[in-house]
Amino acid sequence: MRAAVLAAGAETMSLEDLPTPEPRTGEVLIRVRACGVCHTDLHVLRNEVPFPRPCVLGHEIAGVVAAVGPGVEGYAVGQRVVGAFLMPCGRCGFCVRGRDDLCELFFTCNRQRGVLYDGQTRLRRPDGQPVWMYSMGGLAEYAVVPATALAPLPDDLPLEEAAVLGCAVLTAYGAVRHAADLRAGMAVAVVAVGGVGASLIPIARAFGAWPVVAVDVRSEKLDLARSLGATHLVDAGREDPVAAVRALTGGRGVDVAFEALGRPETVGQAVEMVGDGGRAVLIGIAPVGVTAPLATPVWSGGGCRSSAPTAPGPGPISRRWWSWPAGA
Ligand SMILES: NC(=O)c1ccc[n+]([C@@H]2O[C@H](COP(=O)([O-])OP(=O)(O)OC[C@H]3O[C@@H](n4cnc5c(N)ncnc54)[C@H](O)[C@@H]3O)[C@@H](O)[C@H]2O)c1
Ligand SMILES: [Zn+2]
Ligand SMILES: [Zn+2]
Repeated sequence: MRAAVLAAGAETMSLEDLPTPEPRTGEVLIRVRACGVCHTDLHVLRNEVPFPRPCVLGHEIAGVVAAVGPGVEGYAVGQRVVGAFLMPCGRCGFCVRGRDDLCELFFTCNRQRGVLYDGQTRLRRPDGQPVWMYSMGGLAEYAVVPATALAPLPDDLPLEEAAVLGCAVLTAYGAVRHAADLRAGMAVAVVAVGGVGASLIPIARAFGAWPVVAVDVRSEKLDLARSLGATHLVDAGREDPVAAVRALTGGRGVDVAFEALGRPETVGQAVEMVGDGGRAVLIGIAPVGVTAPLATPVWSGGGCRSSAPTAPGPGPISRRWWSWPAGA
């Protein structure tokens, strides 16, 4: 099969022919039809996040089941599936407690060493040299994925649209549901609306947040954010995003500020946008060793005044927004 391999010392990936991998017990071989490129792939490519080489990146895949390993139930050859970047082992202490987002084997085996849970990679060069896997190594024609990291796809969802479910959308959902514990009526800012940040917007709206302020430096990203449900847009290249978000919330700041880039300045901005009792949810990954200076929070209420909202509330929450997560 062809695979985009990131070789030792290389600055870009290059196509190589590798033997097609075979699924072992509990694993499924996917014919990859679409794979997103997440900013975390870029961090690895730029050596900002350590990872062994040679390796195959790519952890947002959608495709078709090509083979099923022993012991796998519920998947059949030809089935359309999406893969999750987190590939929980299903057996460690975190997994059995329902915290498969913290799966110990996933982070120690795969994220640190590029292997699956038997300590081995499924990829190698024709001469036998191991090729390490970032998640399932999705930037290839075929990928081996533990069945615990797969979900079937409905026929009417195009594979190239479904691929981003595997990281950007899953990460956004986890940030909204678990890290933020977002409730209806909360005010939200999303700093950086790329793959993850843009995915946060319809999910935050679905949870009933209002306003949902999108902050970015690129107009096309802000336009996309609006089309996905952002109620207000802030171009951080033209105005101070902290002042703009505070102005939009009557000086109070937001209940939840999501940071989805990982730069010191945007981390600082997200923290400073948060009002009393709120929280900043830091999703972005920063290069190893980078630190962010943070301002000490001050009470943000200002002078004596009514607590009535200065901006209109969400009004009746439409069925469209509420029915969407229930079926997701
Ligand atoms: N915690 C997790 O599990 C997890 C999962 C996925 C991604 N991530 C991390 O999240 C971050 C975002 O990933 P992505 O794939 O969405 O990235 P992306 O490249 O798709 O988006 C980045 C966005 O940041 C915007 N931007 C650049 N400079 C800005 C500034 N000064 N102010 C505001 N916006 C600015 C860009 O215009 C772009 O829209 C990365 O650090 C990635 O590694 C973390
Ligand atoms: Zn990712
Ligand atoms: Zn586990």
